[in-house]
Amino acid sequence: MLTNTIKIKDEEFFELKEIIYKASAITFAESKKYLLENRLSKRLQELNFNSFKEYLYYLKYDINRIKEMDTLLNLVTINETYFLRERQQMDHLMKSTIPAILTRGKKNIRIWSAACSTGEEPYSMAILLREYALSTRANYEIIGTDINTEVVDIAKKGVYRGMSFRGVPPNFQSTYFTQNGLVYEIKDEFKHRVRFQIGNLISHTLPAQVGKFDVIFCRNALIYFDIEGKQKVLDMFYNCLNTPGYLYLGHSESTIKIKSKFVLQNFGNGVFHIKE
Ligand SMILES: C[S@@+](CC[C@H](N)C(=O)[O-])C[C@H]1O[C@@H](n2cnc3c(N)ncnc32)[C@H](O)[C@@H]1O
Repeated sequence: MLTNTIKIKDEEFFELKEIIYKASAITFAESKKYLLENRLSKRLQELNFNSFKEYLYYLKYDINRIKEMDTLLNLVTINETYFLRERQQMDHLMKSTIPAILTRGKKNIRIWSAACSTGEEPYSMAILLREYALSTRANYEIIGTDINTEVVDIAKKGVYRGMSFRGVPPNFQSTYFTQNGLVYEIKDEFKHRVRFQIGNLISHTLPAQVGKFDVIFCRNALIYFDIEGKQKVLDMFYNCLNTPGYLYLGHSESTIKIKSKFVLQNFGNGVFHIKE
Protein backbone atom coordinates (compact mmCIF):
# COMPACT_ATOMS: atom_id res chain seq x y z
CA MET A 1 0.00 0.00 0.00
CA LEU A 2 2.17 2.91 1.26
CA THR A 3 4.65 4.70 0.53
CA ASN A 4 5.11 8.40 0.43
CA THR A 5 8.74 9.33 0.65
CA ILE A 6 9.59 10.92 3.96
CA LYS A 7 12.14 13.68 3.54
CA ILE A 8 15.27 13.61 5.65
CA LYS A 9 16.65 16.89 7.02
CA ASP A 10 20.36 17.61 6.75
CA GLU A 11 21.08 17.15 10.44
CA GLU A 12 19.07 13.90 10.49
CA PHE A 13 20.97 12.65 7.46
CA PHE A 14 24.33 13.33 9.12
CA GLU A 15 23.28 11.59 12.31
CA LEU A 16 21.85 8.57 10.49
CA LYS A 17 24.85 8.21 8.22
CA GLU A 18 27.13 8.29 11.28
CA ILE A 19 25.10 5.53 12.96
CA ILE A 20 25.32 3.38 9.81
CA TYR A 21 29.05 4.09 9.48
CA LYS A 22 29.83 3.13 13.07
CA ALA A 23 27.91 -0.12 12.69
CA SER A 24 29.23 -1.19 9.29
CA ALA A 25 31.89 1.20 7.86
CA ILE A 26 29.49 1.90 4.97
CA THR A 27 29.61 5.57 3.97
CA PHE A 28 26.92 7.68 2.32
CA ALA A 29 27.86 10.79 0.40
CA GLU A 30 25.42 13.72 0.65
CA SER A 31 24.34 12.96 -2.92
CA LYS A 32 22.96 9.63 -1.61
CA LYS A 33 20.45 11.25 0.74
CA TYR A 34 17.61 10.28 -1.60
CA LEU A 35 18.74 6.66 -1.34
CA LEU A 36 18.21 6.63 2.43
CA GLU A 37 14.86 8.37 1.99
CA ASN A 38 13.72 5.88 -0.63
CA ARG A 39 14.92 2.80 1.17
CA LEU A 40 13.76 3.77 4.67
CA SER A 41 10.46 5.61 4.18
CA LYS A 42 8.46 2.37 4.14
CA ARG A 43 10.14 1.22 7.35
CA LEU A 44 9.36 4.52 9.08
CA GLN A 45 5.73 4.22 8.06
CA GLU A 46 5.56 0.62 9.31
CA LEU A 47 6.69 1.99 12.67
CA ASN A 48 4.13 4.80 12.44
CA PHE A 49 6.76 7.53 12.29
CA ASN A 50 6.32 10.70 10.29
CA SER A 51 9.90 11.88 10.47
CA PHE A 52 13.48 10.66 10.58
CA LYS A 53 13.79 12.45 13.92
CA GLU A 54 11.43 9.90 15.46
CA TYR A 55 13.27 7.05 13.76
CA LEU A 56 16.63 8.25 15.09
CA TYR A 57 15.21 8.38 18.60
CA TYR A 58 13.94 4.81 18.15
CA LEU A 59 17.32 3.64 16.88
CA LYS A 60 19.12 5.20 19.83
CA TYR A 61 16.83 4.58 22.78
CA ASP A 62 14.11 2.03 22.08
CA ILE A 63 14.19 -1.39 23.70
CA ASN A 64 14.20 -2.84 20.14
CA ARG A 65 17.16 -0.75 19.02
CA ILE A 66 19.58 -3.65 18.54
CA LYS A 67 17.14 -5.56 16.35
CA GLU A 68 16.33 -2.36 14.48
CA MET A 69 20.02 -1.89 13.62
CA ASP A 70 19.90 -5.23 11.76
CA THR A 71 16.75 -4.11 9.94
CA LEU A 72 18.36 -0.79 9.07
CA LEU A 73 21.50 -2.48 7.69
CA ASN A 74 19.38 -4.96 5.75
CA LEU A 75 17.61 -2.02 4.12
CA VAL A 76 20.64 0.09 3.26
CA THR A 77 23.17 -2.47 2.01
CA ILE A 78 23.54 -2.95 -1.75
CA ASN A 79 23.35 -6.68 -2.36
CA GLU A 80 23.67 -6.92 -6.14
CA THR A 81 25.42 -10.13 -7.20
CA TYR A 82 25.15 -12.97 -9.73
CA PHE A 83 26.73 -16.29 -10.62
CA LEU A 84 30.23 -16.25 -12.16
CA ARG A 85 30.51 -12.47 -11.67
CA GLU A 86 33.94 -11.15 -12.73
CA ARG A 87 34.71 -14.66 -13.83
CA GLN A 88 38.28 -13.86 -14.75
CA GLN A 89 39.21 -13.77 -11.06
CA MET A 90 37.47 -17.04 -10.34
CA ASP A 91 39.20 -18.69 -13.30
CA HIS A 92 42.52 -17.41 -12.01
CA LEU A 93 41.75 -18.92 -8.62
CA MET A 94 41.03 -22.29 -10.24
CA LYS A 95 43.79 -22.30 -12.86
CA SER A 96 46.61 -20.83 -10.87
CA THR A 97 46.09 -20.19 -7.15
CA ILE A 98 44.50 -23.47 -6.06
CA PRO A 99 46.92 -25.59 -8.12
CA ALA A 100 49.79 -23.67 -6.47
CA ILE A 101 48.34 -24.43 -3.02
CA LEU A 102 47.90 -28.11 -3.98
CA THR A 103 51.47 -28.32 -5.21
CA ARG A 104 52.59 -27.48 -1.70
CA GLY A 105 50.79 -30.62 -0.54
CA LYS A 106 47.95 -28.92 1.28
CA LYS A 107 45.00 -31.25 1.80
CA ASN A 108 42.53 -28.92 3.54
CA ILE A 109 41.88 -25.66 1.74
CA ARG A 110 39.73 -22.94 3.29
CA ILE A 111 38.12 -20.22 1.15
CA TRP A 112 36.19 -17.21 2.48
CA SER A 113 33.65 -15.20 0.52
CA ALA A 114 33.67 -12.28 2.93
CA ALA A 115 30.70 -10.23 1.68
CA CYS A 116 28.80 -13.00 -0.06
CA SER A 117 25.35 -11.39 -0.32
CA THR A 118 22.82 -14.03 -1.46
CA GLY A 119 25.52 -16.66 -2.02
CA GLU A 120 26.09 -16.67 -5.78
CA GLU A 121 29.84 -15.98 -5.32
CA PRO A 122 30.72 -18.88 -2.97
CA TYR A 123 28.41 -21.28 -4.83
CA SER A 124 30.12 -20.29 -8.10
CA MET A 125 33.42 -21.31 -6.52
CA ALA A 126 32.00 -24.67 -5.42
CA ILE A 127 30.75 -25.24 -8.98
CA LEU A 128 34.03 -24.21 -10.60
CA LEU A 129 36.03 -26.50 -8.29
CA ARG A 130 34.15 -29.32 -9.94
CA GLU A 131 34.38 -27.89 -13.47
CA TYR A 132 38.15 -27.62 -13.11
CA ALA A 133 38.35 -31.17 -11.69
CA LEU A 134 39.83 -29.86 -8.46
CA SER A 135 37.10 -30.94 -6.06
CA THR A 136 38.54 -34.39 -5.39
CA ARG A 137 42.12 -33.24 -4.95
CA ALA A 138 41.68 -31.76 -1.44
CA ASN A 139 39.06 -31.07 1.19
CA TYR A 140 37.57 -27.64 0.60
CA GLU A 141 35.71 -25.58 3.11
CA ILE A 142 33.99 -22.52 1.64
CA ILE A 143 32.50 -20.01 4.06
CA GLY A 144 30.20 -17.17 3.04
CA THR A 145 29.55 -14.28 5.42
CA ASP A 146 27.60 -11.06 5.12
CA ILE A 147 26.32 -8.35 7.47
CA ASN A 148 22.81 -8.52 5.98
CA THR A 149 20.79 -11.16 7.84
CA GLU A 150 18.21 -11.50 5.04
CA VAL A 151 20.71 -12.26 2.29
CA VAL A 152 22.41 -14.86 4.48
CA ASP A 153 19.06 -16.62 4.89
CA ILE A 154 18.55 -16.60 1.10
CA ALA A 155 22.08 -17.93 0.59
CA LYS A 156 21.42 -20.81 2.98
CA LYS A 157 18.31 -21.79 1.00
CA GLY A 158 20.22 -21.69 -2.30
CA VAL A 159 17.13 -20.91 -4.40
CA TYR A 160 17.54 -18.41 -7.26
CA ARG A 161 15.64 -16.64 -10.02
CA GLY A 162 16.62 -15.46 -13.50
CA MET A 163 18.60 -12.33 -12.59
CA SER A 164 21.18 -14.38 -10.70
CA PHE A 165 22.06 -16.16 -13.94
CA ARG A 166 22.75 -13.22 -16.26
CA GLY A 167 25.85 -14.00 -18.27
CA VAL A 168 26.21 -17.66 -17.32
CA PRO A 169 26.97 -20.12 -20.13
CA PRO A 170 24.23 -22.31 -21.63
CA ASN A 171 23.44 -25.41 -19.54
CA PHE A 172 24.74 -23.79 -16.31
CA GLN A 173 21.30 -23.91 -14.68
CA SER A 174 20.38 -27.38 -15.95
CA THR A 175 23.72 -28.87 -14.86
CA TYR A 176 24.04 -27.47 -11.36
CA PHE A 177 20.47 -26.62 -10.30
CA THR A 178 17.10 -28.29 -9.98
CA GLN A 179 14.33 -26.27 -11.60
CA ASN A 180 11.09 -25.80 -9.74
CA GLY A 181 8.75 -23.58 -11.77
CA LEU A 182 10.45 -20.21 -12.06
CA VAL A 183 13.15 -20.89 -9.50
CA TYR A 184 16.34 -22.93 -9.49
CA GLU A 185 17.72 -24.65 -6.41
CA ILE A 186 21.42 -25.39 -6.25
CA LYS A 187 22.13 -29.13 -6.11
CA ASP A 188 23.01 -30.59 -2.71
CA GLU A 189 26.54 -31.47 -3.78
CA PHE A 190 27.34 -27.74 -4.01
CA LYS A 191 25.04 -26.58 -1.24
CA HIS A 192 26.85 -28.84 1.21
CA ARG A 193 30.23 -27.44 0.28
CA VAL A 194 29.39 -23.90 1.44
CA ARG A 195 28.63 -22.77 4.99
CA PHE A 196 26.99 -19.40 5.59
CA GLN A 197 26.97 -17.19 8.65
CA ILE A 198 26.31 -13.59 9.54
CA GLY A 199 29.55 -11.62 9.67
CA ASN A 200 30.31 -7.93 9.99
CA LEU A 201 33.69 -7.11 8.45
CA ILE A 202 34.42 -4.55 11.15
CA SER A 203 33.44 -6.72 14.10
CA HIS A 204 36.37 -7.54 16.40
CA THR A 205 34.96 -11.00 16.97
CA LEU A 206 34.71 -11.98 13.29
CA PRO A 207 38.28 -13.36 12.90
CA ALA A 208 37.81 -15.73 15.84
CA GLN A 209 34.43 -16.82 14.46
CA VAL A 210 35.70 -17.68 10.99
CA GLY A 211 39.31 -18.82 11.57
CA LYS A 212 42.22 -18.87 9.09
CA PHE A 213 41.97 -19.10 5.31
CA ASP A 214 44.09 -19.83 2.27
CA VAL A 215 41.97 -17.64 -0.01
CA ILE A 216 39.71 -14.66 0.67
CA PHE A 217 37.33 -13.09 -1.85
CA CYS A 218 35.89 -9.73 -0.81
CA ARG A 219 34.46 -8.15 -3.92
CA ASN A 220 32.27 -5.10 -4.37
CA ALA A 221 31.84 -4.39 -0.67
CA LEU A 222 34.82 -2.18 0.21
CA ILE A 223 33.77 0.30 -2.49
CA TYR A 224 31.22 1.55 0.04
CA PHE A 225 33.85 2.06 2.78
CA ASP A 226 36.12 5.04 3.44
CA ILE A 227 39.92 4.69 3.60
CA GLU A 228 39.88 4.04 7.35
CA GLY A 229 37.29 1.29 6.97
CA LYS A 230 39.19 -0.30 4.08
CA GLN A 231 42.42 -0.18 6.09
CA LYS A 232 40.80 -1.94 9.06
CA VAL A 233 39.37 -4.68 6.87
CA LEU A 234 42.57 -5.21 4.89
CA ASP A 235 44.56 -5.57 8.13
CA MET A 236 42.00 -8.07 9.39
CA PHE A 237 42.23 -10.06 6.13
CA TYR A 238 46.02 -10.13 6.40
CA ASN A 239 45.76 -11.61 9.88
CA CYS A 240 43.12 -14.13 8.80
CA LEU A 241 45.23 -15.53 5.96
CA ASN A 242 47.67 -18.42 6.17
CA THR A 243 51.09 -17.92 4.61
CA PRO A 244 51.03 -17.92 1.68
CA GLY A 245 47.49 -16.59 1.40
CA TYR A 246 45.60 -14.95 -1.43
CA LEU A 247 43.14 -12.05 -1.42
CA TYR A 248 40.93 -11.05 -4.36
CA LEU A 249 39.08 -7.73 -4.23
CA GLY A 250 36.56 -6.49 -6.81
CA HIS A 251 37.84 -5.85 -10.29
CA SER A 252 37.72 -2.06 -9.94
CA GLU A 253 38.65 -1.81 -6.25
CA SER A 254 41.99 -0.20 -5.61
CA THR A 255 44.04 -0.33 -2.41
CA ILE A 256 46.33 2.42 -3.60
CA LYS A 257 45.89 4.60 -0.51
CA ILE A 258 46.01 1.72 1.95
CA LYS A 259 49.15 0.67 3.80
CA SER A 260 49.51 -3.07 3.79
CA LYS A 261 52.02 -5.90 3.83
CA PHE A 262 50.29 -7.60 0.91
CA VAL A 263 52.30 -8.04 -2.28
CA LEU A 264 50.31 -7.14 -5.38
CA GLN A 265 50.53 -9.40 -8.39
CA ASN A 266 49.05 -8.97 -11.87
CA PHE A 267 47.11 -11.51 -13.87
CA GLY A 268 45.35 -10.74 -17.16
CA ASN A 269 43.64 -7.39 -16.60
CA GLY A 270 43.45 -7.84 -12.84
CA VAL A 271 45.50 -7.92 -9.64
CA PHE A 272 45.39 -10.02 -6.54
CA HIS A 273 47.04 -9.65 -3.14
CA ILE A 274 49.44 -12.19 -1.68
CA LYS A 275 50.50 -12.66 1.92
CA GLU A 276 53.98 -14.11 1.43
C1 LIG B 1 27.41 -5.68 -3.90
S1 LIG B 1 27.40 -7.02 -2.77
C2 LIG B 1 28.74 -7.99 -3.37
C3 LIG B 1 28.44 -9.47 -3.38
C4 LIG B 1 29.54 -10.34 -4.00
N1 LIG B 1 30.76 -10.25 -3.24
C5 LIG B 1 29.79 -9.92 -5.43
O1 LIG B 1 30.82 -9.30 -5.72
O2 LIG B 1 28.98 -10.24 -6.30
C6 LIG B 1 28.14 -6.23 -1.32
C7 LIG B 1 27.81 -6.98 -0.03
O3 LIG B 1 28.62 -6.44 1.02
C8 LIG B 1 27.88 -6.55 2.21
N2 LIG B 1 28.47 -5.68 3.25
C9 LIG B 1 28.49 -4.32 3.30
N3 LIG B 1 29.08 -3.91 4.44
C10 LIG B 1 29.46 -5.02 5.12
C11 LIG B 1 30.11 -5.25 6.36
N4 LIG B 1 30.49 -4.23 7.16
N5 LIG B 1 30.33 -6.51 6.73
C12 LIG B 1 29.94 -7.57 5.95
N6 LIG B 1 29.31 -7.42 4.77
C13 LIG B 1 29.07 -6.17 4.36
C14 LIG B 1 26.47 -6.15 1.79
O4 LIG B 1 25.48 -6.58 2.69
C15 LIG B 1 26.38 -6.80 0.42
O5 LIG B 1 25.70 -8.03 0.47
